[in-house]
Amino acid sequence: MSLKNKNIVLGVTGGIAAYKAAELTRLLIKEGSKVRVVMTEAAQAFITPLTLQALSGEAVRSELFDPAHEAAMGHIELARWADLVLVAPATANLLAKLAHGRADDLLSTLCLATEAPIAVAPAMNQQMWQSDATKDNMKRLQARNVVILGPDSGDQACGETGPGRMLEPAAIVARIKNEFAPKRLENKRILITAGPTREPIDPVRYLSNRSSGKMGFAMAIAALQAGAEVTLIAGPVSLEINKAVNRINVETAATMHTKVIENIDSCDIFIATAAVSDYRPEFMEAQKIKKDADQLTLSLTKNPDILADVAGRSSKPFCVGFAAETQNLEHYARQKLISKNLDMIIANPVDNGRGFDQEDNTLHVFWKDGDKAFATAPKTELARQLIHLIAEHTLN
Ligand code: C5P
Repeated sequence: MSLKNKNIVLGVTGGIAAYKAAELTRLLIKEGSKVRVVMTEAAQAFITPLTLQALSGEAVRSELFDPAHEAAMGHIELARWADLVLVAPATANLLAKLAHGRADDLLSTLCLATEAPIAVAPAMNQQMWQSDATKDNMKRLQARNVVILGPDSGDQACGETGPGRMLEPAAIVARIKNEFAPKRLENKRILITAGPTREPIDPVRYLSNRSSGKMGFAMAIAALQAGAEVTLIAGPVSLEINKAVNRINVETAATMHTKVIENIDSCDIFIATAAVSDYRPEFMEAQKIKKDADQLTLSLTKNPDILADVAGRSSKPFCVGFAAETQNLEHYARQKLISKNLDMIIANPVDNGRGFDQEDNTLHVFWKDGDKAFATAPKTELARQLIHLIAEHTLN
């Protein structure tokens, strides 16, 4: 997808990766975009406005109330002018300000004032990236559909190693191009299940599993960004989602099954990401079980297979399953593809702590007459690529 004639406001904040904004500006201009750079005060300690002005061919802005510009190109005009606001690098501070809607400088103000999509390329020390506060802020931004580019993992300027490196400028440009790609799933309705289920044993205990819901939620966001109308049936997870997604919360496999069947009729695509409990206690005890006996035997009953039920319908949607396996990945995945009558199965290894409750995933997708392997990458990135793959298979 071309970036030709796109108006991009490039926000640069104060981190060591700010020097990469020069290369990023150059690449965007090379793509044919018009770039207007807005710098925070701290950013100017890392790279001079003059550098970015020379590369973008436009005056660099940093003052909220700038007598020289306010009449011609004030912050509201700049917000309106943008087809995209890209903040790279985005510091923890900028992300916190965005998450809380603060507007105390030009960049944060125009982010609040713009209707254009906002993309951020976080860059910070790995500890700061992994702090609870930053995690909360990222959840909020993701729920608001802010496009999050990276970060990468690796050596950091502070001497530490871990997640927090800004994506390389070329990778940012590749992702930005995708933002302007046509909405490939426009007018498609997608139903997604996500997270674990909880099967009550008694009023205070349940059977469940380690699924965090991250993959399913990432699939929902990617489908939304591809233009689909998305319904997400979520087990108990601590994740937020964009309000444009129709989210239905459930606890048990039985309720997830009911809600899926209630919503499946007009769907074009069904993606079963949920780690549904295969069994549930035969009875839920009315009172908390006391630990009087030395041994306790729970009698379990098989839960309905939601995916197999949907895929067995006469007018079934395009059905995508996940196969989390600790061994013989391809063999079991292909078996499920056939036994559940699926159109596509996404296999992921879950041995040695991989897969469940991780930010990254490694995937291998199989369909009747083909397959595609995806190297380890953030779940959000993989979800985007998977949705594109699904779109390719459903749009003919
Ligand atoms: O058979 P297995 O549980 O490994 O299959 C995994 C796939 O089937 C996943 O896509 C999962 O969401 C779906 N599934 C389901 N209902 C079940 C069990 C699994 O929808 N009861």
